[in-house]
Amino acid sequence: MNIAPFETEHFYAQYEFNTPYQLCNSDCETVTIGALLEMADMSLEQFGLQALGYTESQGNPHLRESIAAMYQHVQPEDVVVLGTPIEGIYLTARALLEPGDEVIVLSPAYDALINMFAHVVGPSNVKKWRFQPQPSAWTLELDDLRRLLSPRTKMVVVNFPHNPTGYLPTPQMQRALAEIVEAHNLWLFCDEMYFGLVHSGTPPIPSAADVSKRAIVLSGLSKTYGLPGLRSGWLIVQDKATRDRLMNWKFYTSICPPAPTEFLAVAALRVWRELRDKNIAQIEQNLALAEVFFQRWPALFTWRRPLAGSTALVGYHVPSVSAVAAQLAAEAGVLIHPATTLDSDDRHMRMGFGRAGFGKALRRFEAWLGR
Ligand SMILES: Cc1ncc(COP(=O)(O)O)c(C=O)c1O
Repeated sequence: MNIAPFETEHFYAQYEFNTPYQLCNSDCETVTIGALLEMADMSLEQFGLQALGYTESQGNPHLRESIAAMYQHVQPEDVVVLGTPIEGIYLTARALLEPGDEVIVLSPAYDALINMFAHVVGPSNVKKWRFQPQPSAWTLELDDLRRLLSPRTKMVVVNFPHNPTGYLPTPQMQRALAEIVEAHNLWLFCDEMYFGLVHSGTPPIPSAADVSKRAIVLSGLSKTYGLPGLRSGWLIVQDKATRDRLMNWKFYTSICPPAPTEFLAVAALRVWRELRDKNIAQIEQNLALAEVFFQRWPALFTWRRPLAGSTALVGYHVPSVSAVAAQLAAEAGVLIHPATTLDSDDRHMRMGFGRAGFGKALRRFEAWLGR
């Protein structure tokens, strides 16, 4: 069975480890194992004593308790610890959908959130709920979603805070979305990899898992907490029969989470608020630099300030952002991300604000623009 190329990951595989100045990463600034253990008041010696046998398939019970405690209405048995966050998208598509079901997805989006569902249900059964560009913001209309519903719709796939637009619904809109899903007996797959990265002035929202039992929530430590190399993620699945189906698929993909990752995830969850707050501060600082930059280049870029998350989708008025990105990487060692990989067009780029080197990279980009 065919699957579309995972364009975003092909792009980063090509550029991430050989382009020194990066303006587009979706993850936040990371820390070392030593620094993480120190923050969590744990020692490297304890880490050294971690046995490397198989682990419990659904996840270490202590880790599942710590994860459940981050939510209002989630129990440890609702948590499925994954082998890697991206695995959660695959497992959900496989366990909940059949060829011929219809799925509504956001567009633009992280491409796995479109392609994996298209792979299972068939590309013509994927309907796109599109963000609309307003002069200074991206918007999303529930009426557009209502128009896409059909008797074959099985699932709505969302991602809030959203990569790449930085969109976050209001609490009222989140509840209205849950009501639509429940009224039609659908599943809401909510990718919350950027959960808690909410910019000042934006009203926060709860996890979808605390709003509806029809929500399947994906989260993990890669983005908000800056630990993508840990490959730690989880699903919240409150329906037991669905969880059992999902676990069966998981036996075919990762069987159980890696023991060293679970050890370090327990450490990270002791200090998740500190990790998140450090990253929010970095994002706010980089957003301020970006705003000043865009004020200096009003004819070249359209800036729509993100409400949440670590990214923004920026209009770049050149004939091809892909061509400019390749030239910029080669000439100045600066990486921008053409939004074509995210089901957008070649006149937008994704920017990412979570990394400490952002300011330096932005200055290099500006020097290149003014060359
Ligand atoms: C919305 C979204 N979901 C899932 C993932 C996958 O996370 P990970 O790379 O940690 O598996 C990403 C990574 O960019 C993402 O942006």
